[in-house]
Amino acid sequence: MSTWERFNKYYLQSKELEFALDISRIGFDDSFLLQMEPKAQAAYDAMEALEAGAVANPDENRQVGHYWLRNAALAPDPSIRSDIETCLEAIKTIAADVHSGTTTGSSGSIENCLVIGIGGSALGPQFVADALGCPQRDKIKLYFFDNTDPDGMDRTMTALEGQLGRTLCIVISKSGGTAETRNGMLEAKAAYQRSGLNFAQHAIAITGKGSKLDAVAESEGWLNRLPMWDWVGGRTSELAAVGLLPAALQGIDIDRMLSGAAEMDNATRIRETQNNPAALLALMWYQATGGRGAKDMVVLPYKDRLMLFSKYLQQLVMESLGKELDLEGNTVHQGIAVYGNKGSTDQHAYVQQLREGVHNFFVTFIEVLKDRKGDSIEVDADTTTGDYLQGFYLGTRQALHENGRESITITIHEVTPEAIGRLIALFERAVGIYAHMINVNAYHQPGVEAGKKAAAGVLELELQVLSALKAQAGEALTAQALSAELNCPENAENIYKILKRLSVNNRGIQLKQDGLPHETTFLSV
Ligand code: PA5
Repeated sequence: MSTWERFNKYYLQSKELEFALDISRIGFDDSFLLQMEPKAQAAYDAMEALEAGAVANPDENRQVGHYWLRNAALAPDPSIRSDIETCLEAIKTIAADVHSGTTTGSSGSIENCLVIGIGGSALGPQFVADALGCPQRDKIKLYFFDNTDPDGMDRTMTALEGQLGRTLCIVISKSGGTAETRNGMLEAKAAYQRSGLNFAQHAIAITGKGSKLDAVAESEGWLNRLPMWDWVGGRTSELAAVGLLPAALQGIDIDRMLSGAAEMDNATRIRETQNNPAALLALMWYQATGGRGAKDMVVLPYKDRLMLFSKYLQQLVMESLGKELDLEGNTVHQGIAVYGNKGSTDQHAYVQQLREGVHNFFVTFIEVLKDRKGDSIEVDADTTTGDYLQGFYLGTRQALHENGRESITITIHEVTPEAIGRLIALFERAVGIYAHMINVNAYHQPGVEAGKKAAAGVLELELQVLSALKAQAGEALTAQALSAELNCPENAENIYKILKRLSVNNRGIQLKQDGLPHETTFLSV
């Protein structure tokens, strides 16, 4: 079959959704679809049960309800329904009060918002802010703390210098105990205090009821608190308060995002696989990766506004699918690696390898039909910059195809709030369906917890090392000697690295003798 014939056969288009999916450049045939149909039907059953309120996250004994957020009537329980509606109203009221000047900061009307969160509590808001906003025109300008990097926070705070009295601070953490977010909150609070401002008067918490963050916000009398429910996962929380409050403040029409997501939910809930874009995506992932992540997914949106979509999808896909165990407890080491940035920019970076190098990936192109608001100049006779952008997309796709490299293309009309809602909903459901096909729990993240525990161990070690060195003030010791003294020889390397950093940060540790790690000595001063 020619590529044109395959394109016509496997091009799924929805005029209502201003959306199309082209899977013709993945090397499957009809027998694959036939053979996978029982798996697809089983996944629809599971998704139906999930939407009806089944415990779809067994490890944490939780329901999985992000689909209810854009259609509260679907929620299995009237109290959940009313929680969703009440929260949406609260978000709109907060935003309206800020925009109208009813809510002000200590220095006057609110102009900026500092969002503090990490992972699922940051990536969605960052993606949406970049896709739909324009810092020069937004009603409120958004800034982010999404790490515990002191210099990173300083850079953001420098941009906000002299403006904290007009800056709202939204602290987002579902668990309310995430160290990076807590640190960001404390750094922000200290900055407000240094400016003689009351942090609580500018702060809103979005967190689980009764969490540590909730308790702090309540006891300090923060401006507001909005809920994060245990049935919404971090990486699927963009359409909960996590994403909606920052977007509403920025001036984005959140109802349009929600309705776009609801439309895509309707289109991906159907059981006719050939007409279900999320199922087709999941099936293509299965085909391209052998159902075991054998190939990476490169996400290439040809649109600057969608640059952060690759990063957002990286978390959504990798944190959801990257699992050691399947649902029966068998070791499977599943996942699909995701990376990407944007086209045509990436053609001047790694696309060389995609075309000619190691063949370990498939590409998901995202094409946006509308070039810009208004008309374009001609950069050559009858040729615009948008023509070039499309030329590079089609050219790259062809060049990859000629070398046997597979690709999917998603086409949208324009980057609107509806389109963003649809893209989020499409990939959320594709991840859910694929997870069922490979039999993993997409809604927990034990690996993230393991990293958090290990980091806590390192911080505890640092305290022990500091106190051991202090107890021997004036004596220069190697990391190895300290590890022996602390009865943890296996930690010599970590101790060396901890002390090396402390010695350059004015933390009472001096590097006495610098050399190879085993020769280097440190002193408490
Ligand atoms: O998707 C997830 O569950 C994670 O990425 C979390 O969002 C992230 O770890 C932050 O957690 P929290 O919102 O509890 O601070």
